[in-house]
Amino acid sequence: MSEQSDLFPAPAPKGPALVASKIEALRDQLNQWAHAYYVLDAPSVPDAEYDRLFQQLQALEGAYPDLVTPDSPTQRVIGAVMDGLTPVRHQVPMLSIRTETDTEATGAEAFDARVRRELKLAPDAPPVEYVAEPKFDGLAMSLRYERGRLVQAATRGDGEVGEEVTHNIRTIRQIPLTLPKDAPPVLEVRGEVYMRRADFERLNERQREQGGKTFVNPRNAAAGAVRQLDSGIAAQRPLSFFAYGVGEVEGAEFATHFELLEKLRSWGFPVAAQVQIARGATELIAFHQRIGAERDQLPYDIDGVVYKVNSLALQRQLGFVTREPRWAVAHKYPAQEMMTRVEGIDVQVGRTGKLTPVARLAPVFVGGVTVTNATLHNLFELRRKRVRVGDQVIVRRAGDVIPEVVGVVPAPRAGYVPNFRMPAQCPICGSSVVREPGEVNHRCSGGLFCPAQRKQAVLHFAQRRAMDIEGLGEKLVDQLVEGHVIRVLPDLFRLGLSSLSELDRMAEKSAQNVLDALQKSKRTTLPRFLFGLGIRHVGEATAKDLARHFGALDAIMDASVDQLLQVNDVGPVVAEAIHTFFAQPHNREVVEQLRACGVTWEEGEPQEGATLPLAGKTIVLTGTLPTLGRDEAKDLLEAAGAKVAGSVSKKTHYVVAGAEAGSKLEKAQALGIPVLDEDGLRALLAAGA
Ligand code: IVH
Repeated sequence: MSEQSDLFPAPAPKGPALVASKIEALRDQLNQWAHAYYVLDAPSVPDAEYDRLFQQLQALEGAYPDLVTPDSPTQRVIGAVMDGLTPVRHQVPMLSIRTETDTEATGAEAFDARVRRELKLAPDAPPVEYVAEPKFDGLAMSLRYERGRLVQAATRGDGEVGEEVTHNIRTIRQIPLTLPKDAPPVLEVRGEVYMRRADFERLNERQREQGGKTFVNPRNAAAGAVRQLDSGIAAQRPLSFFAYGVGEVEGAEFATHFELLEKLRSWGFPVAAQVQIARGATELIAFHQRIGAERDQLPYDIDGVVYKVNSLALQRQLGFVTREPRWAVAHKYPAQEMMTRVEGIDVQVGRTGKLTPVARLAPVFVGGVTVTNATLHNLFELRRKRVRVGDQVIVRRAGDVIPEVVGVVPAPRAGYVPNFRMPAQCPICGSSVVREPGEVNHRCSGGLFCPAQRKQAVLHFAQRRAMDIEGLGEKLVDQLVEGHVIRVLPDLFRLGLSSLSELDRMAEKSAQNVLDALQKSKRTTLPRFLFGLGIRHVGEATAKDLARHFGALDAIMDASVDQLLQVNDVGPVVAEAIHTFFAQPHNREVVEQLRACGVTWEEGEPQEGATLPLAGKTIVLTGTLPTLGRDEAKDLLEAAGAKVAGSVSKKTHYVVAGAEAGSKLEKAQALGIPVLDEDGLRALLAAGA
């Protein structure tokens, strides 16, 4: 595209006529690029190139102020501050459309049947041709162009009289200020001003950072921006536009609605890509389904689809009932946002112990289901949104997302309502609630004792790299915890054949297998046991470090934060987590009971600060070794202090390769890294070099 911009070298002093044509050429080029960027979503030049020409135009206009016209791209934000908005009478009223709220099939069928009846079509007459469009969730706008120039933008108002908002609408880059030569001399374009979801999120983020007011949804943000008195403010609220019809038109004729939309597109207006022709009710239903499925992925909010009879002659024949055309209908989707009352605020404890404040709501139908609870995410979100019991709130449920409270509808409160407080004790188990510095989430410190966390805890404990209890899978754990067979981890080792074989789909044979696996798992190692306890931030590696450093479990349980900080790789967050865990009497109780049930391991001598033979060495395992399993080899290496990594790099010290070793072996050879077989590995472990 740079050849094009070479047509515009830096401005040199010229006669006024030359300057005028130069200005004209710059504006044309800038408008063309802006159209590609904002409407077609297909930028044709780098931003810097656009900026360069824009500055040239600004410079020329600065030198020749008489040549500045309101439709110049430099004049989108004119910084006008109005005293109030001026009423505008629409030349052609802005109608509303009848809404079909029925299910997807009957909604489209009822409309099609009505149209056919009104047109007196025989039952065997071919299907009526419609145009199907998304129903954008923004606000209706009428843009009036005279001789190709935007002269007025007005809101819908009551349909007869709206408000003039031209100063703000000019700031929308998707809306052309001038039209191509083939556009009619008088053209009113009707469409929807809206805000894209991503723009909305960014705007709210910025408002939050600057301590400003946030908006509950894109539509409110768009409506607020359009009605600003100060176009400088409107310009900072990124708006978009879709054209879907016309008002007054002089000097152009169209045969169909689809043709009209195509023309609008060719004159530079954004028309939604989803718009299509649909024949008969069947294709309308298919459209409704398809757009419904795409709804959550669209970059903007829609609240339904619109069906319109395509032929303008048939539209005229159908006419209007009161203020609604008989040739169009809106077919809505279940609303994704509804208003309701907060009856209370509860706290839920998640699987990881996270406490989530949840609004208990007066039941409301939103996003296709009745919702009685909505998440408030965390204490800080709740405070930011200023939600209190008794407030009217907007609840949003989009797709499969958990319903959330997006904001409060401002209204005076009936009386004093105390602010919500996070409980100091877990509402499920009574353990203390903690929040780590820099974290937004409060957590229950109850760990294994807290039923809400139990299922997760049991699964974690049973997993292969912890206690390795074969056959104790998710389905079984769900049944055991939900049936209150297992309340605390030690209950696992108190399971009997009868209680197990009573469960769904559990034959006596498999019940016995589980019991055998439990029995076998009791002989374990201290690192496995520690890891299995599920202490926050204590992964396998930390568990090994702790076991090595302290030698015995009691020493770890009684260690102070300072003592824990002495352990290799243990920082303040981890030390605090370990200390808090063992400070809970319930957790100590669980450990004691597990030991009493026969869980044992060999304890060793503390090896504070001791350096292991392979400390600092990074080793990669690849392929199948003749006798050692992958996990076994890993355990041996880690016990010797080595770090076992997943990929080969220049920092790898050795690669241990077995049968069918692939790319990792090749890479090791390419990098000249020593490659060992199983014997080599054993020798390394023995020598510790
Ligand atoms: S056509 C005579 N098409 O929905 C028909 N309206 O009550 C005039 N809307 O506020 C409207 N998307 O702003 C039409 N594709 C679409 C639309 C649409 C959204 C809005 C419009 C109006 C309401 C209709």
